[in-house]
Amino acid sequence: MYFKIKYVFNCQLQIINILAHQKVKKVYLVTMDSKTFAIITDIHSNLESLNKALEIINSRKDIDQIICLGDCFALGPEPEKTMETLKSITNCIFIRGNHDRYLLEKLWEEEQPSLEGMDPADPICQAIVKNEKWTADLLGKDGIEFCSKMKIAHREIIGQTLIEFSHAWYKRDDKPPSVKEGLKWKEHLSQLNPKVKNFVFIHGHVHIPRHQIIENLTILCQGATGLPFDRDPRGSVAFLKVENEQILWEVERYNYNINITSSQLEKRKPPFYTNLKNTIRLASIRNDLQ
Ligand SMILES: [Fe+2]
Repeated sequence: MYFKIKYVFNCQLQIINILAHQKVKKVYLVTMDSKTFAIITDIHSNLESLNKALEIINSRKDIDQIICLGDCFALGPEPEKTMETLKSITNCIFIRGNHDRYLLEKLWEEEQPSLEGMDPADPICQAIVKNEKWTADLLGKDGIEFCSKMKIAHREIIGQTLIEFSHAWYKRDDKPPSVKEGLKWKEHLSQLNPKVKNFVFIHGHVHIPRHQIIENLTILCQGATGLPFDRDPRGSVAFLKVENEQILWEVERYNYNINITSSQLEKRKPPFYTNLKNTIRLASIRNDLQ
């Protein structure tokens, strides 16, 4: 970052010198705002995929900020090692997902535990609730502490571009905004920030890529790092670069060793593990398969 600032500063000095030499009376300095984010989301304890995502991020030299959009631990084989790895990232903002919230709220202690509108009597719902408890038991107090520090949303303004990151939305963590809701959100923020020209909303949760541009609002989702649902079993890491009011969105899909994640599920047998093995392999929810 230091070299980048120094480089921009040197370029500006050179321009000033050239203009001074040409006897130009007024010199206007234009500062270029630029920032690059690396985004991981919905890891779901898929340590093998997370490690590959971090390897890709670390191989780049232009990352200013890493952001994790939540759902870090439940529905995967390696909660403890995933937490250890996430803690080791030096520059990361953690956003809380609905599955991270279930760990804090102890969903399984409710009278009729349910999530995302599922029928509490549905065996699938019951297996997922058991998985939440299995995950929380392994993470213990450290897991509670880690999840309780997560943010609901993170907002930044870079130049004239406002970017908001959340798991689904700041209003709710289990359903991202519709286009209509997104536009209303943008209108509200335009009034509060009259100088902002572009609005970018980035979410996780759905495990399926989204790329919508409506007027000056861009809504983005990369899919999922650890548990994709778009029939492409590769992991995903996203990069957002905002530079001179340009928004560059790059999603890298990568291969990782799915067999390792699958055998970790087989070895540890968390509740719902047979379904999870199919989801990892097919990148699709196939609760009809055994
Ligand atoms: Fe998720």
